[in-house]
Amino acid sequence: MAITDELKSTIVAIAVKGKGILAADESTKTATKRLEAVGVQSTEENRRRYRELLFSAPDTNKHLAGVILYEETLMQKASDDTPFPSYLSKKGILPGIKVDKGLVKIPFTEDEEVTQGLDGLPERLAEYKKLGAKFAKWRAVYKITGKLPSPLAISTNAEVLARYAAICQSLGIVPIVEPEVLLDGNHTIERCAVVSEAVLREVFSALKRNLVNVKLIILKPSMVLSGKDCPQKSSPEQVAEETLKVLKKSVPSEVPTINFLSGGQTPEQATIHLNLMNKHPQPWNLSFSYARALQDPAMKAWAGKEENVKKAQQIFFHRLKLNSLATEGKYAVNME
Ligand code: 13P
Repeated sequence: MAITDELKSTIVAIAVKGKGILAADESTKTATKRLEAVGVQSTEENRRRYRELLFSAPDTNKHLAGVILYEETLMQKASDDTPFPSYLSKKGILPGIKVDKGLVKIPFTEDEEVTQGLDGLPERLAEYKKLGAKFAKWRAVYKITGKLPSPLAISTNAEVLARYAAICQSLGIVPIVEPEVLLDGNHTIERCAVVSEAVLREVFSALKRNLVNVKLIILKPSMVLSGKDCPQKSSPEQVAEETLKVLKKSVPSEVPTINFLSGGQTPEQATIHLNLMNKHPQPWNLSFSYARALQDPAMKAWAGKEENVKKAQQIFFHRLKLNSLATEGKYAVNME
């Protein structure tokens, strides 16, 4: 298939009303933190068992268009010996892969960071593609304080995100472009809106400069929220309104799908906010690409025990279903 047709068919499969993406691409370090929090030792086999619990949950293909995997999982197999990427494809769920290699400090800034991993990326992507990956993910992070993010952090991260996206598209892999404005801090929702707009504008200007076709990307932004430690808590309506306002000012309508990260919101909050934004038609498909907001309740219910697998899968499916309803503005809190 020609490269553009490959990209198009992936976008068509992902940008579907009622479907979203599961981010199950936690690095070993993050997976270890999450597993140990529910009393499970983070061995390679336990990480595999946990991921299999998620992927084998019945009927998830009704609400999941794709799953983002970590390299370790891309190489692992389900209990029936099927490699995970084929296991997911057989269910009609596209496998994707996290390709960034984490964060490094930007010299001369106040501990701001840029995402690394461009060296050797074309070769790695070619390998991942052979293993079945249809899309990739790269996460940039931005810290908010009174002064930050600095113009340097905004421009450096945008350029790197755009170079990653261009490399992906040149190889027929759809890039998830993920600029995450962090929830940490005591900033107001208004400050988050100003920062998010500046970040997104710079990302789209870098994508254009790097000849990326924005019709063939998935944007994965954070919602516009007040900081975790902000005394004035914003209402769900405010979050939906501010997020849409920022997106409309900075994201071209040609972008086919916006799949939000959850970023430390509770599972319920992430669903409520998505639902409110989908009460009215928007220029883009608006969906989810959550990790914690989809997984946390299920992981807690599992706690590493075989006898809890079924229950954990039901809880995971329930969260997926509620978020699927939220992509159509049809969720209500009493469905929890
Ligand atoms: P959260 O939904 O837990 O923020 O994770 C999404 C993600 O993929 C972060 O890169």
